[in-house]
Amino acid sequence: MRLTDSHGRVATDLRVSLTDRCNLRCSYCMPAEGLDWLPNPLLLTDDEILRLVTIAVARLGVTEIRLTGGEPTLRPGLVRLVERMAALSPRPELSLTTNGLRLAGLAGPLAAAGLDRVNVSLDTLRPERFARITRRNRLDDVLAGLAAAADAGLIPVKVNAVLLRGLNDDEAAPLLRWCLARGYELRFIEQMPLDAQHGWRRTEMITAGEILTRLEAEFVLTALPGRGSAPAELFAVDGGPGTVGVIGSVSAPFCAACDRVRLTADGQVRNCLFARDESDLRGPMRSGATDDDLADRWVRAVWGKHAGHGIDTPGFHQPARPMSAIGG
Ligand code: GTP
Ligand code: 5AD
Ligand code: SF4
Repeated sequence: MRLTDSHGRVATDLRVSLTDRCNLRCSYCMPAEGLDWLPNPLLLTDDEILRLVTIAVARLGVTEIRLTGGEPTLRPGLVRLVERMAALSPRPELSLTTNGLRLAGLAGPLAAAGLDRVNVSLDTLRPERFARITRRNRLDDVLAGLAAAADAGLIPVKVNAVLLRGLNDDEAAPLLRWCLARGYELRFIEQMPLDAQHGWRRTEMITAGEILTRLEAEFVLTALPGRGSAPAELFAVDGGPGTVGVIGSVSAPFCAACDRVRLTADGQVRNCLFARDESDLRGPMRSGATDDDLADRWVRAVWGKHAGHGIDTPGFHQPARPMSAIGG
Protein backbone atom coordinates (compact mmCIF):
# COMPACT_ATOMS: atom_id res chain seq x y z
CA MET A 1 0.00 0.00 0.00
CA ARG A 2 1.06 3.57 -0.59
CA LEU A 3 -0.13 6.85 0.89
CA THR A 4 -1.79 8.25 -2.22
CA ASP A 5 -4.21 11.17 -2.14
CA SER A 6 -7.15 11.87 -4.41
CA HIS A 7 -5.04 14.39 -6.37
CA GLY A 8 -2.46 11.75 -7.28
CA ARG A 9 0.30 12.77 -4.88
CA VAL A 10 2.10 10.10 -2.88
CA ALA A 11 3.32 10.81 0.66
CA THR A 12 6.76 9.33 1.30
CA ASP A 13 8.08 11.91 3.79
CA LEU A 14 6.75 11.45 7.31
CA ARG A 15 7.24 14.26 9.80
CA VAL A 16 6.90 13.05 13.37
CA SER A 17 6.34 15.62 16.10
CA LEU A 18 7.89 14.32 19.34
CA THR A 19 6.57 17.04 21.65
CA ASP A 20 4.65 20.31 21.41
CA ARG A 21 6.88 21.92 24.04
CA CYS A 22 9.69 24.30 23.30
CA ASN A 23 12.57 25.95 25.14
CA LEU A 24 12.28 29.12 23.05
CA ARG A 25 9.31 31.45 22.73
CA CYS A 26 9.68 32.88 19.22
CA SER A 27 7.29 35.80 19.00
CA TYR A 28 5.99 34.69 15.57
CA CYS A 29 5.19 31.26 16.97
CA MET A 30 3.83 31.45 20.51
CA PRO A 31 3.16 33.89 23.36
CA ALA A 32 5.75 34.65 26.07
CA GLU A 33 3.93 32.49 28.62
CA GLY A 34 4.00 29.44 26.33
CA LEU A 35 0.92 27.37 25.51
CA ASP A 36 -1.26 24.78 27.22
CA TRP A 37 1.05 21.86 26.48
CA LEU A 38 -0.43 18.47 25.70
CA PRO A 39 -0.82 16.43 28.90
CA ASN A 40 1.60 13.50 29.12
CA PRO A 41 -0.99 10.70 28.94
CA LEU A 42 -2.03 11.97 25.50
CA LEU A 43 1.52 11.83 24.13
CA LEU A 44 2.55 8.75 22.23
CA THR A 45 5.11 6.67 24.10
CA ASP A 46 8.40 5.77 22.44
CA ASP A 47 7.05 2.27 21.73
CA GLU A 48 3.88 3.69 20.19
CA ILE A 49 5.86 6.04 17.96
CA LEU A 50 8.07 3.16 16.90
CA ARG A 51 5.09 1.00 16.09
CA LEU A 52 3.49 3.66 13.89
CA VAL A 53 6.75 4.57 12.17
CA THR A 54 7.39 0.89 11.49
CA ILE A 55 3.97 0.59 9.84
CA ALA A 56 4.71 3.68 7.75
CA VAL A 57 8.11 2.42 6.61
CA ALA A 58 7.46 -1.29 6.21
CA ARG A 59 3.95 -1.13 4.73
CA LEU A 60 3.13 2.36 3.49
CA GLY A 61 6.15 3.34 1.42
CA VAL A 62 7.53 6.07 3.69
CA THR A 63 11.23 6.56 2.95
CA GLU A 64 12.09 9.69 4.96
CA ILE A 65 11.41 10.45 8.59
CA ARG A 66 11.88 13.95 9.95
CA LEU A 67 11.66 14.44 13.71
CA THR A 68 10.11 17.76 14.69
CA GLY A 69 8.47 19.47 17.64
CA GLY A 70 7.86 21.88 19.28
CA GLU A 71 11.48 21.24 20.02
CA PRO A 72 12.26 17.54 19.49
CA THR A 73 15.46 17.56 21.57
CA LEU A 74 13.28 18.08 24.66
CA ARG A 75 12.10 14.50 24.30
CA PRO A 76 14.05 12.46 26.88
CA GLY A 77 14.45 9.27 24.82
CA LEU A 78 15.41 10.99 21.56
CA VAL A 79 18.76 9.27 20.94
CA ARG A 80 17.37 5.80 21.57
CA LEU A 81 14.36 6.57 19.38
CA VAL A 82 16.67 7.53 16.51
CA GLU A 83 18.68 4.35 17.04
CA ARG A 84 15.54 2.23 16.83
CA MET A 85 14.33 4.04 13.70
CA ALA A 86 17.72 3.57 12.04
CA ALA A 87 17.35 -0.19 12.58
CA LEU A 88 14.13 -0.35 10.55
CA SER A 89 14.04 -2.13 7.25
CA PRO A 90 14.13 -0.61 4.71
CA ARG A 91 16.16 1.97 6.59
CA PRO A 92 14.53 5.40 6.27
CA GLU A 93 16.49 8.60 5.84
CA LEU A 94 16.46 10.28 9.26
CA SER A 95 16.58 14.00 9.88
CA LEU A 96 15.78 16.44 12.66
CA THR A 97 14.42 19.98 12.68
CA THR A 98 15.62 21.77 15.80
CA ASN A 99 16.22 25.21 17.29
CA GLY A 100 19.76 24.00 18.08
CA LEU A 101 19.82 24.91 21.77
CA ARG A 102 20.71 21.38 22.89
CA LEU A 103 22.58 20.31 19.80
CA ALA A 104 26.11 20.91 21.12
CA GLY A 105 25.68 17.98 23.50
CA LEU A 106 23.41 15.87 21.32
CA ALA A 107 24.92 16.06 17.82
CA GLY A 108 27.57 13.38 18.47
CA PRO A 109 25.23 10.87 20.13
CA LEU A 110 22.53 11.48 17.50
CA ALA A 111 24.97 10.92 14.63
CA ALA A 112 26.21 7.75 16.30
CA ALA A 113 22.60 6.59 16.70
CA GLY A 114 22.05 6.94 12.94
CA LEU A 115 20.66 10.44 12.40
CA ASP A 116 21.60 11.58 8.88
CA ARG A 117 21.19 15.36 9.02
CA VAL A 118 19.75 18.38 10.81
CA ASN A 119 17.91 21.59 9.93
CA VAL A 120 18.52 24.33 12.50
CA SER A 121 16.46 27.49 12.96
CA LEU A 122 18.44 30.73 13.11
CA ASP A 123 16.81 34.06 12.33
CA THR A 124 19.56 36.46 13.38
CA LEU A 125 23.26 36.60 14.20
CA ARG A 126 22.86 39.46 16.67
CA PRO A 127 22.51 38.39 20.31
CA GLU A 128 20.15 41.19 21.33
CA ARG A 129 17.89 40.53 18.35
CA PHE A 130 17.96 36.82 19.02
CA ALA A 131 16.78 37.53 22.56
CA ARG A 132 14.02 39.83 21.29
CA ILE A 133 12.73 37.36 18.68
CA THR A 134 12.99 34.17 20.75
CA ARG A 135 12.59 35.78 24.21
CA ARG A 136 15.66 33.83 25.40
CA ASN A 137 19.29 34.91 25.39
CA ARG A 138 20.67 31.73 23.84
CA LEU A 139 22.31 32.63 20.52
CA ASP A 140 25.67 31.17 21.61
CA ASP A 141 24.09 27.78 22.27
CA VAL A 142 22.63 27.68 18.76
CA LEU A 143 25.97 28.60 17.19
CA ALA A 144 27.73 25.92 19.23
CA GLY A 145 25.02 23.45 18.21
CA LEU A 146 25.51 24.21 14.53
CA ALA A 147 29.26 23.70 14.78
CA ALA A 148 28.77 20.43 16.66
CA ALA A 149 26.33 19.19 14.01
CA ALA A 150 28.83 19.83 11.23
CA ASP A 151 31.63 18.23 13.27
CA ALA A 152 29.48 15.16 13.85
CA GLY A 153 28.87 14.80 10.10
CA LEU A 154 25.16 15.64 10.22
CA ILE A 155 25.43 17.14 6.76
CA PRO A 156 24.33 19.02 4.87
CA VAL A 157 23.58 21.26 7.85
CA LYS A 158 20.63 23.41 6.77
CA VAL A 159 19.74 26.70 8.42
CA ASN A 160 16.13 27.94 8.38
CA ALA A 161 15.57 31.69 8.74
CA VAL A 162 12.30 33.61 8.99
CA LEU A 163 12.62 37.32 8.19
CA LEU A 164 10.34 39.66 10.15
CA ARG A 165 9.63 43.20 9.07
CA GLY A 166 11.50 45.74 11.19
CA LEU A 167 13.14 43.04 13.31
CA ASN A 168 15.70 41.19 11.19
CA ASP A 169 14.77 41.90 7.58
CA ASP A 170 18.12 43.64 7.02
CA GLU A 171 19.98 40.39 7.79
CA ALA A 172 19.34 38.41 4.60
CA ALA A 173 22.79 39.11 3.14
CA PRO A 174 24.77 38.87 6.43
CA LEU A 175 23.11 35.53 7.25
CA LEU A 176 23.92 34.21 3.80
CA ARG A 177 27.55 35.33 3.96
CA TRP A 178 27.92 33.75 7.39
CA CYS A 179 26.38 30.43 6.31
CA LEU A 180 28.39 30.25 3.07
CA ALA A 181 31.61 30.71 5.03
CA ARG A 182 30.75 27.69 7.18
CA GLY A 183 29.24 25.43 4.53
CA TYR A 184 25.71 25.61 5.95
CA GLU A 185 22.80 25.62 3.47
CA LEU A 186 20.68 28.65 4.28
CA ARG A 187 16.96 28.75 3.40
CA PHE A 188 14.67 31.70 3.99
CA ILE A 189 11.09 30.81 4.88
CA GLU A 190 8.05 32.97 4.27
CA GLN A 191 6.13 33.39 7.48
CA MET A 192 2.90 31.37 7.44
CA PRO A 193 -0.39 31.88 9.33
CA LEU A 194 0.37 29.18 11.90
CA ASP A 195 1.18 31.21 15.01
CA ALA A 196 -0.71 30.49 18.21
CA GLN A 197 -1.67 34.15 18.62
CA HIS A 198 -3.23 34.44 15.14
CA GLY A 199 -1.25 37.62 14.58
CA TRP A 200 -0.05 36.84 11.05
CA ARG A 201 -0.83 39.51 8.42
CA ARG A 202 -0.31 38.88 4.72
CA THR A 203 0.74 42.49 4.21
CA GLU A 204 3.43 42.24 6.90
CA MET A 205 5.00 39.07 5.52
CA ILE A 206 8.40 39.37 3.86
CA THR A 207 7.76 37.67 0.53
CA ALA A 208 10.10 35.38 -1.37
CA GLY A 209 10.31 38.10 -4.04
CA GLU A 210 11.40 40.66 -1.48
CA ILE A 211 14.03 38.30 -0.06
CA LEU A 212 15.44 37.67 -3.53
CA THR A 213 15.57 41.39 -4.30
CA ARG A 214 17.53 42.00 -1.10
CA LEU A 215 19.96 39.18 -1.85
CA GLU A 216 20.41 40.18 -5.47
CA ALA A 217 21.66 43.57 -4.35
CA GLU A 218 24.77 41.80 -3.03
CA PHE A 219 25.02 38.42 -4.78
CA VAL A 220 24.49 36.96 -8.23
CA LEU A 221 21.80 34.29 -7.90
CA THR A 222 21.19 31.60 -10.53
CA ALA A 223 18.10 29.42 -10.18
CA LEU A 224 18.96 25.72 -9.98
CA PRO A 225 16.74 23.11 -11.68
CA GLY A 226 15.58 19.83 -10.19
CA ARG A 227 13.61 21.02 -7.19
CA GLY A 228 11.32 17.98 -7.14
CA SER A 229 9.17 17.94 -4.01
CA ALA A 230 11.53 20.15 -1.97
CA PRO A 231 9.85 23.23 -0.48
CA ALA A 232 12.86 25.45 -1.20
CA GLU A 233 13.67 26.97 -4.57
CA LEU A 234 17.46 26.79 -4.73
CA PHE A 235 19.88 29.32 -6.21
CA ALA A 236 23.60 29.09 -6.81
CA VAL A 237 25.33 32.08 -5.19
CA ASP A 238 27.97 33.97 -7.19
CA GLY A 239 28.39 31.04 -9.58
CA GLY A 240 28.35 28.38 -6.82
CA PRO A 241 29.05 25.94 -5.32
CA GLY A 242 27.36 27.72 -2.38
CA THR A 243 23.57 27.87 -2.56
CA VAL A 244 20.67 29.65 -0.93
CA GLY A 245 17.05 28.45 -0.75
CA VAL A 246 13.83 30.39 -0.56
CA ILE A 247 10.72 28.65 0.76
CA GLY A 248 7.84 30.68 -0.65
CA SER A 249 5.12 28.66 1.08
CA VAL A 250 2.60 31.48 0.80
CA SER A 251 3.40 33.41 -2.39
CA ALA A 252 4.55 30.36 -4.40
CA PRO A 253 3.02 27.26 -2.79
CA PHE A 254 4.60 23.91 -3.56
CA CYS A 255 1.43 22.02 -2.58
CA ALA A 256 1.06 20.38 -6.02
CA ALA A 257 4.34 18.50 -5.47
CA CYS A 258 3.89 17.89 -1.73
CA ASP A 259 4.99 14.43 -0.55
CA ARG A 260 4.51 15.00 3.18
CA VAL A 261 2.33 13.57 5.88
CA ARG A 262 2.51 14.34 9.58
CA LEU A 263 2.07 12.51 12.83
CA THR A 264 1.44 14.76 15.85
CA ALA A 265 2.87 14.08 19.28
CA ASP A 266 -0.59 12.97 20.42
CA GLY A 267 -0.94 10.43 17.65
CA GLN A 268 -3.04 12.21 15.01
CA VAL A 269 -2.33 11.89 11.30
CA ARG A 270 -2.41 15.32 9.66
CA ASN A 271 -2.23 15.20 5.90
CA CYS A 272 -1.22 18.89 5.64
CA LEU A 273 0.06 21.71 7.85
CA PHE A 274 -3.22 23.45 6.99
CA ALA A 275 -5.49 20.40 7.24
CA ARG A 276 -8.96 21.06 8.60
CA ASP A 277 -9.20 17.69 10.28
CA GLU A 278 -6.98 14.93 11.68
CA SER A 279 -7.29 11.17 11.98
CA ASP A 280 -6.71 9.63 15.37
CA LEU A 281 -4.36 6.65 15.54
CA ARG A 282 -3.64 6.81 19.28
CA GLY A 283 -7.18 5.86 20.37
CA PRO A 284 -7.51 2.84 18.08
CA MET A 285 -3.95 1.75 18.89
CA ARG A 286 -4.66 1.85 22.62
CA SER A 287 -7.90 -0.06 22.07
CA GLY A 288 -6.09 -2.93 20.41
CA ALA A 289 -6.18 -2.07 16.70
CA THR A 290 -4.10 -4.35 14.49
CA ASP A 291 -1.29 -3.08 12.23
CA ASP A 292 -3.61 -3.72 9.25
CA ASP A 293 -6.29 -1.55 10.80
CA LEU A 294 -3.85 1.27 11.62
CA ALA A 295 -2.36 1.16 8.12
CA ASP A 296 -5.85 1.31 6.68
CA ARG A 297 -6.77 4.36 8.77
CA TRP A 298 -3.55 6.05 7.67
CA VAL A 299 -4.27 5.41 3.99
CA ARG A 300 -7.75 6.88 4.35
CA ALA A 301 -6.39 9.91 6.22
CA VAL A 302 -4.03 10.76 3.39
CA TRP A 303 -6.60 10.16 0.65
CA GLY A 304 -8.61 13.19 1.84
CA LYS A 305 -5.69 15.65 1.58
CA HIS A 306 -6.73 18.97 0.02
CA ALA A 307 -5.14 20.20 -3.20
CA GLY A 308 -3.55 23.19 -1.48
CA HIS A 309 -3.51 25.38 1.62
CA GLY A 310 -5.63 28.16 0.07
CA ILE A 311 -4.01 30.91 2.17
CA ASP A 312 -4.71 33.54 -0.47
CA THR A 313 -8.33 32.46 -1.04
CA PRO A 314 -11.30 34.24 0.58
CA GLY A 315 -12.58 31.28 2.64
CA PHE A 316 -9.21 30.59 4.31
CA HIS A 317 -9.20 29.88 8.03
CA GLN A 318 -6.03 29.43 10.03
CA PRO A 319 -5.90 25.91 11.50
CA ALA A 320 -6.75 25.55 15.19
CA ARG A 321 -3.45 23.81 15.96
CA PRO A 322 -0.42 26.11 15.88
CA MET A 323 2.80 25.15 14.06
CA SER A 324 4.50 24.24 17.36
CA ALA A 325 1.92 21.51 17.97
CA ILE A 326 1.89 20.22 14.39
CA GLY A 327 5.62 20.04 13.71
CA GLY A 328 7.46 22.44 11.39
P1 GTP B 1 14.50 19.17 3.80
O1 GTP B 1 14.22 17.74 3.59
O2 GTP B 1 15.83 19.40 4.43
O3 GTP B 1 14.27 20.05 2.59
O4 GTP B 1 13.49 19.61 4.91
P2 GTP B 1 12.32 20.63 5.01
O5 GTP B 1 12.66 21.92 4.42
O6 GTP B 1 11.10 19.98 4.56
O7 GTP B 1 12.21 20.69 6.58
P3 GTP B 1 12.16 21.82 7.65
O8 GTP B 1 11.58 21.18 8.85
O9 GTP B 1 13.47 22.47 7.80
O10 GTP B 1 11.10 22.81 7.09
C1 GTP B 1 11.44 24.08 6.71
C2 GTP B 1 10.20 24.89 6.47
O11 GTP B 1 9.55 24.46 5.30
C3 GTP B 1 9.15 24.74 7.54
O12 GTP B 1 9.40 25.55 8.62
C4 GTP B 1 7.95 25.23 6.82
O13 GTP B 1 7.96 26.63 6.83
C5 GTP B 1 8.20 24.74 5.43
N1 GTP B 1 7.44 23.52 5.24
C6 GTP B 1 7.82 22.26 5.58
N2 GTP B 1 6.85 21.38 5.25
C7 GTP B 1 5.85 22.11 4.71
C8 GTP B 1 4.56 21.78 4.18
O14 GTP B 1 4.13 20.64 4.14
N3 GTP B 1 3.82 22.81 3.70
C9 GTP B 1 4.26 24.10 3.71
N4 GTP B 1 3.47 25.05 3.20
N5 GTP B 1 5.45 24.45 4.23
C10 GTP B 1 6.23 23.47 4.72
N1 5AD C 1 5.88 30.41 9.36
C1 5AD C 1 7.03 29.96 8.80
N2 5AD C 1 7.98 29.32 9.48
C2 5AD C 1 7.77 29.16 10.78
N3 5AD C 1 8.53 28.58 11.71
C3 5AD C 1 7.89 28.64 12.89
N4 5AD C 1 6.71 29.26 12.75
C4 5AD C 1 6.62 29.61 11.45
C5 5AD C 1 5.65 30.25 10.67
N5 5AD C 1 4.52 30.71 11.19
C6 5AD C 1 9.83 28.01 11.39
C7 5AD C 1 10.84 28.09 12.47
C8 5AD C 1 11.77 26.96 12.12
C9 5AD C 1 10.94 26.03 11.27
C10 5AD C 1 10.79 24.68 11.79
O1 5AD C 1 9.68 26.65 11.15
O2 5AD C 1 11.53 29.30 12.45
O3 5AD C 1 12.86 27.40 11.38
FE1 SF4 D 1 10.08 26.84 19.41
FE2 SF4 D 1 10.26 26.61 16.79
FE3 SF4 D 1 8.19 27.88 17.82
FE4 SF4 D 1 10.61 29.00 17.99
S1 SF4 D 1 9.48 28.56 16.09
S2 SF4 D 1 9.10 28.81 19.69
S3 SF4 D 1 11.91 27.25 18.18
S4 SF4 D 1 8.63 25.70 18.07
